[in-house]
Amino acid sequence: ETFETPQDAAKALAGEVAELIRTRAAEGKNVVLGLATGATPLPFYAELVRMHKEEGLSFANVISFNLDEYSGLDRDHPESYWYFMHTNLFNHIDIKPENINLPSGTVKDDEIAAHCAAYEQKIKDCGGIDLQILGIGRTGHIGFNEPGSDDTTVTRQVHLDELTRSDAAPAFGGIENVPTTAITMGVATIMGAREVALMAWGEKKASIVKKAVQGPVTVDVAASYLQKHPNAKFLLDKGAASLL
Ligand code: GLP
Repeated sequence: ETFETPQDAAKALAGEVAELIRTRAAEGKNVVLGLATGATPLPFYAELVRMHKEEGLSFANVISFNLDEYSGLDRDHPESYWYFMHTNLFNHIDIKPENINLPSGTVKDDEIAAHCAAYEQKIKDCGGIDLQILGIGRTGHIGFNEPGSDDTTVTRQVHLDELTRSDAAPAFGGIENVPTTAITMGVATIMGAREVALMAWGEKKASIVKKAVQGPVTVDVAASYLQKHPNAKFLLDKGAASLL
């Protein structure tokens, strides 16, 4: 689906999420959201915050699972995804702290496998992800599922692609400060969500969006697996949709 501006797309998606949250709340049920970081979802989070403040949208029945976290960064590091999610969303809404889930950036090496398995298990125990929000990296990654991540992958530690690290370099004040590894949900974890919404803005993303949407389903472009998802959609602005 193509929109005039990122704000228009973000508003449409936030409206759907609000509807889901309210419907479930009326039934006395929780909603499990899979959340993403990066610049892309910022207008979406801003709209959710606005709806909380101005329309009284409550997140008391929301359980969140973030896609990924950089290894080696503690929660207070300004580039950690924990910090990002709290400054851009969680600190401004009424989600219960115990319902917030992110992989840990500081788990010891010999505990990473167990940490990842527990993350997968917790998603299952919560009933699975109702709606997974995604951005897309220029390598075609969703979460940090870099080229080579097939559709059997689950939450695990991965090496970051050089393109991904160089895209992150300005925020870290130089590529040497960008972590080399991260923990991410896998392609199978993402494909297990009942609904998926991927956002992308700007011409910089146009060629990877084209590969993801119209190219072959391939391990070289993790987002291409979404073509096989029964309920996945791409929300694009004109720039990101310009090669379709
Ligand atoms: C990071 C994140 C992804 C995100 C991607 C694109 O690598 N792990 O979840 O989709 O970057 O970032 P941006 O939205 O800033 O373009």
